[in-house]
Amino acid sequence: MEINKSITGKTKLIGLIGNPIEHTISPQLHNTISGMLDIKLTYVPFRVNPEDLEYAVKGLKALNFLGFNVTVPYKKDVMKYLDENTREALLMGAVNTVKNIDGTLYGYNTDAEGFSRSFKEEAGTGFRDKTVLLIGAGGAARSIAVKIAFEGAKKLYIANRTLKKAQELASLINENVKYLASSLSYEDKDFFDIFYKSDIIINTTSAGMYPNISESPVDLNTCRFNSNQIVYDVIYNPLKTRFLSEAEKNGCKIINGLGMLLYQGIAAYEIWTGVKLPEDFVRDLCNLFKSEFLA
Ligand code: ATR
Repeated sequence: MEINKSITGKTKLIGLIGNPIEHTISPQLHNTISGMLDIKLTYVPFRVNPEDLEYAVKGLKALNFLGFNVTVPYKKDVMKYLDENTREALLMGAVNTVKNIDGTLYGYNTDAEGFSRSFKEEAGTGFRDKTVLLIGAGGAARSIAVKIAFEGAKKLYIANRTLKKAQELASLINENVKYLASSLSYEDKDFFDIFYKSDIIINTTSAGMYPNISESPVDLNTCRFNSNQIVYDVIYNPLKTRFLSEAEKNGCKIINGLGMLLYQGIAAYEIWTGVKLPEDFVRDLCNLFKSEFLA
């Protein structure tokens, strides 16, 4: 028999609110980090019904949680219950990380930070002076577009099935960050040329995600990749979508969304604790979780 000392009166708590939350790997990620670094911090998920969102936020604050993550479908709605949101989060229209500092709740978006860090780690380059084609104009695209614009891309094309949403996102970027975005539809006469010539192509749509693995956001019989391109897909299930397979066949560097998932969590952990996780540790942690996913 052994006394379980993993949680004590001094343990700090971090929550996760979303719906559903049954398949999240965030508790495993955060509790592994805490365990390995011997930080007294425990991460617990909560499924919250839409009518209870405000009470859940107030409850976490009342219970002195150090912070919490927010996942689908509350990343936008949670913002109105927080005391302050960062400028980036306001532009992205979404918060996924909240820190409680002496009863004041601060909202951040680490999804985009996770995207950016994983991209640089795996591609070995950033967005400065690059021409980027973003496929999709939903919530994920908005966070990524804002980040890429802040990080000095030369040109940002936003293509979407529904053109109006691409136009709105391009305007948001041009008016609030930097004038570099243009919108287009997949039927646009320039689309294939832009697709072929962009330095970086990013799929932010859910097309191709399990169980619809035969789907692709664009027609792969007509779109051509070139071997100098870096092609990123935010999807991580499956690890290699049809879109990425086709890009790989054409010699492109391909990156899936697993790194984004891990790095958004690492960035959140750093915000809550103020501890910058050592690079070697982060690399080992990512490899551990990636091997778990491959198993
Ligand atoms: P998320 O927060 O994951 O980005 P979202 O805000 O609902 O989710 O956005 C989904 C994006 O994927 C949109 O750009 C959507 O295109 P529409 O705006 O035309 O709906 C895109 N999308 C979803 N399924 C798609 C499919 N099968 N083919 C092409 N685009 C798709």
